[in-house]
Amino acid sequence: MDSFTLLSPAKINLGLHVGRLRDDGYHDIDSVFVAVSLCDELTFSEANLLDLVCQPPVTNTPTDNLVYKAAALLQEFAGCTGKGAKIVLTKRIPHGAGLGGGSSNAATALLGLNRLWNLDYTPDELTQLARRLGSDVPFFLNGPVAHVTGRGDVVRTLPLDIPWTVLVVTPDLHISTPWAYQQIDAFPQRNPPSESTASIVSHLLDNYALDANDLNKGGYNKLVNDFHSCLATQLPEIPTITRRLHDAGALYASLSGSGSAVFGLFTSVETATTAASALSPYQTYICAPMNSVEQT
Ligand code: C5P
Repeated sequence: MDSFTLLSPAKINLGLHVGRLRDDGYHDIDSVFVAVSLCDELTFSEANLLDLVCQPPVTNTPTDNLVYKAAALLQEFAGCTGKGAKIVLTKRIPHGAGLGGGSSNAATALLGLNRLWNLDYTPDELTQLARRLGSDVPFFLNGPVAHVTGRGDVVRTLPLDIPWTVLVVTPDLHISTPWAYQQIDAFPQRNPPSESTASIVSHLLDNYALDANDLNKGGYNKLVNDFHSCLATQLPEIPTITRRLHDAGALYASLSGSGSAVFGLFTSVETATTAASALSPYQTYICAPMNSVEQT
């Protein structure tokens, strides 16, 4: 088989409620995940052994990369340890930013190797494997828009057309996910939401069709990421960027996941582009919500 390339998209979270700490050490969450057009790329070709080249490298050794772990897991599950692959991973999604880059890469590795090795596993079978690689990995096999609950591994695909242009802002700040969850546990003032994030997003989309620019009618303030208030005191750059996004015309702005990326929702590419200039000198990415993961 000739080599082929798959895109591996980032995600943002439209609201993220963090519930109780479970017996297994994870927290229940409630969020709407949306894949966006900021993408890494994975190119797959046949080889005798597993060989991962990551450009630029994000882990100390290639075997620490979730892509390698996904490949090894699939090899073991399929009983095909004799099969190899060369995978070239081109990174564009910032690391430690709550954009799900590593999880997305792992999901794309499962999809790509399922094809390269002619394994014919179903999306459900691959999703079972994805769960073992990380809480966010199943979403990337079941997007591009989904209501995500459990520890992140219960994914209900939502047939929604997301209308906003997304401006992602990445401060030079790496946030470790376990550390962020520990801060949540130490933060007492969390109210359980009265409505699921899926329901809030669905109402926002209904209202968006009526009046895109009315913040109050739109009900954007119901969309809360619990990490935002929790991390704001320790990392004041985060609320500063959120404020600047609002000042620049965002309908909504908050953290993605546990950060450190902050994103704003805009009505058009033009308004998002103007806002990106106002956010200078921060690194910014203007993204479209994905409707389907493109393949080349
Ligand atoms: O599943 P993943 O490997 O991405 O999780 C990394 C860490 O983040 C977990 O070990 C846990 O400390 C924390 N986490 C959590 N609740 C979640 C997801 C992650 O507490 N729902």
